[in-house]
Amino acid sequence: MQNSKKKINGWDAAYKENPQQFVEPDRICTLLDNLFPKYHVERILDLGCGNGRHLVYFGKSGYQMVGSDLSGWGLQAAQKWMQTENQTARLALADMQALPFAKDSFDAIISFRVIQHNLYADIQQTFQEIRRVLRSEGLLAMDLLRYDPESERFKDAVLAEPHTYIPQSGTEEGMPHHTFTTTEVFQLLHGWKIKFFDTQADQKHFTIIAQK
Ligand SMILES: C[S@@+](CC[C@H](N)C(=O)[O-])C[C@H]1O[C@@H](n2cnc3c(N)ncnc32)[C@H](O)[C@@H]1O
Repeated sequence: MQNSKKKINGWDAAYKENPQQFVEPDRICTLLDNLFPKYHVERILDLGCGNGRHLVYFGKSGYQMVGSDLSGWGLQAAQKWMQTENQTARLALADMQALPFAKDSFDAIISFRVIQHNLYADIQQTFQEIRRVLRSEGLLAMDLLRYDPESERFKDAVLAEPHTYIPQSGTEEGMPHHTFTTTEVFQLLHGWKIKFFDTQADQKHFTIIAQK
Protein backbone atom coordinates (compact mmCIF):
# COMPACT_ATOMS: atom_id res chain seq x y z
CA MET A 1 0.00 0.00 0.00
CA GLN A 2 1.31 3.44 -0.94
CA ASN A 3 1.84 5.63 2.15
CA SER A 4 -0.96 8.27 2.26
CA LYS A 5 1.36 10.96 3.61
CA LYS A 6 3.67 10.53 0.63
CA LYS A 7 0.89 10.68 -1.96
CA ILE A 8 1.00 13.57 -4.39
CA ASN A 9 -2.38 15.29 -4.69
CA GLY A 10 -2.30 18.25 -7.05
CA TRP A 11 -5.95 18.93 -6.26
CA ASP A 12 -4.98 20.28 -2.84
CA ALA A 13 -3.14 23.29 -4.32
CA ALA A 14 -5.87 23.67 -6.95
CA TYR A 15 -8.61 24.03 -4.29
CA LYS A 16 -6.42 26.47 -2.36
CA GLU A 17 -6.13 28.66 -5.44
CA ASN A 18 -9.75 28.23 -6.57
CA PRO A 19 -12.11 26.65 -4.01
CA GLN A 20 -14.90 26.27 -6.60
CA GLN A 21 -13.15 23.78 -8.91
CA PHE A 22 -16.31 21.77 -9.58
CA VAL A 23 -19.77 23.32 -9.40
CA GLU A 24 -22.30 21.47 -11.56
CA PRO A 25 -23.36 17.98 -10.39
CA ASP A 26 -22.55 14.96 -12.54
CA ARG A 27 -25.39 14.15 -14.92
CA ILE A 28 -25.95 10.73 -13.27
CA CYS A 29 -27.37 12.60 -10.26
CA THR A 30 -30.83 12.89 -11.84
CA LEU A 31 -30.94 9.09 -12.12
CA LEU A 32 -29.80 8.78 -8.50
CA ASP A 33 -32.59 11.18 -7.46
CA ASN A 34 -35.02 8.49 -8.61
CA LEU A 35 -33.08 5.46 -7.38
CA PHE A 36 -32.17 6.52 -3.84
CA PRO A 37 -35.75 6.59 -2.46
CA LYS A 38 -36.46 3.17 -4.00
CA TYR A 39 -33.43 1.72 -2.17
CA HIS A 40 -34.26 3.45 1.13
CA VAL A 41 -31.13 5.59 1.05
CA GLU A 42 -30.71 8.08 3.88
CA ARG A 43 -26.97 8.15 4.69
CA ILE A 44 -24.59 8.92 1.79
CA LEU A 45 -20.79 8.99 1.71
CA ASP A 46 -19.22 11.12 -1.03
CA LEU A 47 -15.83 9.42 -1.35
CA GLY A 48 -13.31 12.02 -2.59
CA CYS A 49 -15.87 14.81 -2.22
CA GLY A 50 -13.45 17.60 -3.21
CA ASN A 51 -15.07 21.03 -2.91
CA GLY A 52 -18.43 19.42 -2.25
CA ARG A 53 -20.63 19.79 -5.33
CA HIS A 54 -22.42 16.49 -4.58
CA LEU A 55 -22.59 17.10 -0.82
CA VAL A 56 -24.51 20.29 -1.59
CA TYR A 57 -26.64 18.71 -4.33
CA PHE A 58 -27.85 15.72 -2.28
CA GLY A 59 -27.83 17.64 1.00
CA LYS A 60 -30.48 19.94 -0.48
CA SER A 61 -32.72 16.88 -0.92
CA GLY A 62 -32.43 16.09 2.79
CA TYR A 63 -29.93 13.20 2.76
CA GLN A 64 -27.46 12.81 5.65
CA MET A 65 -24.19 13.59 3.92
CA VAL A 66 -20.65 12.60 4.85
CA GLY A 67 -17.67 13.64 2.73
CA SER A 68 -14.12 12.31 2.79
CA ASP A 69 -11.11 13.48 0.82
CA LEU A 70 -7.31 13.53 0.96
CA SER A 71 -7.28 17.30 0.41
CA GLY A 72 -7.65 19.61 3.42
CA TRP A 73 -8.21 22.60 1.12
CA GLY A 74 -10.93 20.67 -0.71
CA LEU A 75 -12.70 19.89 2.57
CA GLN A 76 -12.39 23.51 3.68
CA ALA A 77 -13.95 24.65 0.39
CA ALA A 78 -16.77 22.12 0.86
CA GLN A 79 -17.35 23.30 4.43
CA LYS A 80 -17.62 26.94 3.34
CA TRP A 81 -19.95 26.14 0.45
CA MET A 82 -22.24 24.11 2.70
CA GLN A 83 -22.35 26.91 5.26
CA THR A 84 -23.57 29.34 2.61
CA GLU A 85 -26.34 26.81 1.80
CA ASN A 86 -27.24 26.31 5.49
CA GLN A 87 -26.21 22.68 5.32
CA THR A 88 -24.07 20.44 7.47
CA ALA A 89 -22.12 17.30 6.72
CA ARG A 90 -19.49 15.33 8.59
CA LEU A 91 -16.19 15.78 6.76
CA ALA A 92 -13.17 13.50 7.14
CA LEU A 93 -9.62 14.00 5.92
CA ALA A 94 -8.93 10.45 4.83
CA ASP A 95 -7.29 8.35 2.19
CA MET A 96 -9.88 6.36 0.29
CA GLN A 97 -8.09 3.09 1.04
CA ALA A 98 -8.38 3.48 4.85
CA LEU A 99 -11.79 4.93 5.67
CA PRO A 100 -12.42 6.16 9.25
CA PHE A 101 -15.98 4.78 9.37
CA ALA A 102 -17.55 1.75 11.04
CA LYS A 103 -18.89 -1.13 8.98
CA ASP A 104 -22.37 -0.66 7.49
CA SER A 105 -22.23 3.13 8.05
CA PHE A 106 -23.83 4.12 4.74
CA ASP A 107 -26.82 3.31 2.55
CA ALA A 108 -25.04 4.66 -0.54
CA ILE A 109 -21.53 5.67 -1.57
CA ILE A 110 -20.95 8.02 -4.47
CA SER A 111 -17.53 8.69 -5.98
CA PHE A 112 -16.84 10.68 -9.13
CA ARG A 113 -13.41 11.14 -10.77
CA VAL A 114 -11.60 9.74 -7.71
CA ILE A 115 -11.07 5.97 -7.49
CA GLN A 116 -8.69 5.88 -10.48
CA HIS A 117 -6.12 7.95 -8.56
CA ASN A 118 -4.19 4.97 -7.21
CA LEU A 119 -2.06 2.02 -8.13
CA TYR A 120 -4.14 -1.07 -8.80
CA ALA A 121 -3.32 -2.87 -5.52
CA ASP A 122 -4.48 0.23 -3.62
CA ILE A 123 -7.65 0.38 -5.71
CA GLN A 124 -8.41 -3.20 -4.67
CA GLN A 125 -7.97 -2.09 -1.07
CA THR A 126 -10.36 0.83 -1.67
CA PHE A 127 -13.03 -1.57 -2.92
CA GLN A 128 -12.62 -3.62 0.27
CA GLU A 129 -13.15 -0.47 2.29
CA ILE A 130 -16.21 0.51 0.23
CA ARG A 131 -17.68 -2.95 0.80
CA ARG A 132 -16.97 -2.73 4.55
CA VAL A 133 -18.58 0.66 5.21
CA LEU A 134 -21.60 0.16 2.90
CA ARG A 135 -24.55 -1.69 4.43
CA SER A 136 -25.96 -4.85 2.91
CA GLU A 137 -27.92 -4.04 -0.30
CA GLY A 138 -26.53 -0.49 -0.28
CA LEU A 139 -25.72 1.31 -3.54
CA LEU A 140 -22.37 2.32 -5.02
CA ALA A 141 -22.47 4.96 -7.78
CA MET A 142 -19.13 5.87 -9.34
CA ASP A 143 -17.22 6.59 -12.48
CA LEU A 144 -13.91 5.02 -13.47
CA LEU A 145 -11.43 6.00 -16.17
CA ARG A 146 -11.72 3.65 -19.11
CA TYR A 147 -8.73 1.90 -20.70
CA ASP A 148 -8.51 2.99 -24.33
CA PRO A 149 -5.43 1.88 -26.29
CA GLU A 150 -6.23 4.52 -28.96
CA SER A 151 -6.27 7.42 -26.50
CA GLU A 152 -3.58 10.09 -26.75
CA ARG A 153 -4.39 11.49 -23.31
CA PHE A 154 -1.47 9.88 -21.49
CA LYS A 155 1.04 9.84 -24.32
CA ASP A 156 3.48 12.01 -22.32
CA ALA A 157 2.82 10.28 -19.00
CA VAL A 158 5.05 7.75 -17.25
CA LEU A 159 3.67 4.21 -17.15
CA ALA A 160 3.82 3.10 -13.48
CA GLU A 161 2.35 -0.37 -14.04
CA PRO A 162 0.05 -1.86 -16.71
CA HIS A 163 -2.68 0.71 -17.57
CA THR A 164 -1.63 3.16 -14.80
CA TYR A 165 -0.23 6.48 -15.99
CA ILE A 166 1.47 9.30 -14.11
CA PRO A 167 1.14 12.70 -15.86
CA GLN A 168 4.29 14.82 -15.82
CA SER A 169 2.56 18.21 -15.92
CA GLY A 170 -0.69 19.98 -15.04
CA THR A 171 -2.87 19.82 -11.92
CA GLU A 172 -2.59 16.04 -11.74
CA GLU A 173 1.18 15.90 -12.20
CA GLY A 174 2.59 12.96 -10.24
CA MET A 175 -0.85 11.43 -9.51
CA PRO A 176 -1.52 7.88 -10.69
CA HIS A 177 -4.37 7.43 -13.17
CA HIS A 178 -5.42 3.83 -13.51
CA THR A 179 -7.44 3.16 -16.66
CA PHE A 180 -9.83 0.23 -16.20
CA THR A 181 -10.65 -2.59 -18.55
CA THR A 182 -14.17 -4.02 -18.36
CA THR A 183 -12.64 -7.25 -17.02
CA GLU A 184 -11.09 -5.36 -14.11
CA VAL A 185 -14.36 -3.58 -13.35
CA PHE A 186 -16.22 -6.89 -13.16
CA GLN A 187 -13.45 -8.44 -11.05
CA LEU A 188 -13.59 -5.54 -8.59
CA LEU A 189 -17.38 -5.79 -8.45
CA HIS A 190 -17.46 -9.58 -8.10
CA GLY A 191 -20.54 -10.49 -6.03
CA TRP A 192 -22.21 -7.09 -6.59
CA LYS A 193 -25.42 -6.63 -8.58
CA ILE A 194 -24.78 -4.25 -11.48
CA LYS A 195 -27.75 -1.90 -11.86
CA PHE A 196 -26.34 0.51 -14.45
CA PHE A 197 -23.24 0.35 -16.66
CA ASP A 198 -22.47 2.96 -19.26
CA THR A 199 -19.63 4.61 -21.09
CA GLN A 200 -20.16 8.33 -20.83
CA ALA A 201 -20.69 10.59 -23.79
CA ASP A 202 -17.02 11.61 -23.52
CA GLN A 203 -16.03 7.92 -23.90
CA LYS A 204 -13.35 8.41 -21.27
CA HIS A 205 -15.16 6.92 -18.27
CA PHE A 206 -17.42 4.11 -17.21
CA THR A 207 -20.38 5.17 -15.09
CA ILE A 208 -21.57 2.36 -12.83
CA ILE A 209 -24.26 1.84 -10.24
CA ALA A 210 -23.96 -1.40 -8.29
CA GLN A 211 -25.74 -2.90 -5.32
CA LYS A 212 -23.86 -4.75 -2.57
C1 LIG B 1 -11.17 15.35 -9.98
S1 LIG B 1 -11.39 15.63 -8.25
C2 LIG B 1 -13.12 15.19 -8.07
C3 LIG B 1 -13.76 15.73 -6.82
C4 LIG B 1 -15.23 15.36 -6.60
N1 LIG B 1 -15.44 13.93 -6.50
C5 LIG B 1 -16.11 15.93 -7.66
O1 LIG B 1 -16.69 15.16 -8.44
O2 LIG B 1 -16.26 17.17 -7.71
C6 LIG B 1 -10.51 14.27 -7.54
C7 LIG B 1 -10.59 14.25 -6.02
O3 LIG B 1 -9.98 13.03 -5.51
C8 LIG B 1 -9.31 13.34 -4.31
N2 LIG B 1 -8.34 12.29 -4.05
C9 LIG B 1 -7.24 11.96 -4.78
N3 LIG B 1 -6.61 10.91 -4.22
C10 LIG B 1 -7.33 10.57 -3.11
C11 LIG B 1 -7.17 9.57 -2.10
N4 LIG B 1 -6.16 8.70 -2.12
N5 LIG B 1 -8.10 9.49 -1.12
C12 LIG B 1 -9.14 10.36 -1.09
N6 LIG B 1 -9.34 11.34 -2.01
C13 LIG B 1 -8.43 11.44 -3.00
C14 LIG B 1 -8.71 14.72 -4.60
O4 LIG B 1 -8.32 15.40 -3.46
C15 LIG B 1 -9.85 15.38 -5.35
O5 LIG B 1 -10.72 16.04 -4.47
